[in-house]
Amino acid sequence: MAYFDNQETRRLLKTRWPQLDRSQTDHGQGKPAPPMQKPHSGPTIELPEPSAAVGEPIALKDAIAKRASHRKFSDAALSLAELSYLLWATQGVRKTTEKASFRTVPSGGARHPFETYLFVSRVDGLEPGLYRYLPFDHGLHLERKMEGLDAQLDEALLNHHFGGAVDFVWAAIPYRCEWRYAFESLRLILLDAGHVCAHLYLACEEIGCGTCAVGAYDQEKLDALTGLDGHDEFAVYAAPVGKLPPS
Ligand SMILES: Cc1cc2nc3c(=O)[nH]c(=O)nc-3n(C[C@H](O)[C@H](O)[C@H](O)COP(=O)(O)O)c2cc1C
Repeated sequence: MAYFDNQETRRLLKTRWPQLDRSQTDHGQGKPAPPMQKPHSGPTIELPEPSAAVGEPIALKDAIAKRASHRKFSDAALSLAELSYLLWATQGVRKTTEKASFRTVPSGGARHPFETYLFVSRVDGLEPGLYRYLPFDHGLHLERKMEGLDAQLDEALLNHHFGGAVDFVWAAIPYRCEWRYAFESLRLILLDAGHVCAHLYLACEEIGCGTCAVGAYDQEKLDALTGLDGHDEFAVYAAPVGKLPPS
């Protein structure tokens, strides 16, 4: 017997595009678009140029061929330039218009419904804590310093922290998508998330790091640890990143 007997549940995986009346969405009704980046107050930590991180170039086909999930990391820290590169590769802005941003990853309707949070354990120049990437400034916002970060994160990630130097947590702000695509948003958001993490895998290969996609975490604990309300913004995907141990 299939686990999902309930057709309603499986229906979430299917599109109902023909039933979407675009004139009835908030976008169609002329309501203003939500901000493309969550506001913040306080100083912005500038990030180095992303290209500063890349040493010996690796061919894309080699990065694709080598890509694998890594669950063991060395104790080494990432440099700020390396973190900058990973953030640019996963959410970096390459063009903006009045209504949309175009980034290094695709997104349905260019809605880009994610905020990127970073639990930093070992990044040169950053105190351990929770940070948020500001893609339009290519900078970081310190949400809060943290003590005992590793244990709390490992609990929220159901032992999937793996001693990462920095853990990415992608949080969805569903309304960014719902504003234009209403009930179609659920699928689009999760499809978008896959692209983001795929870029992280390949970018890690380029700079001698490793990562592992994490879909199994404690939703309430991770949302609480990340300071998310769990309704208008909540975690949808995570990935620890670290330097690879010598092989
Ligand atoms: C959507 C998704 C969710 C995943 N969640 C987890 C997870 O929670 N824990 C884990 O150890 N690996 C997780 N992985 C990694 C997969 O287990 C891994 O990709 C798979 O075993 C294939 O190995 P490879 O990535 O080395 O090719 C996830 C991968 C994806 C794409």
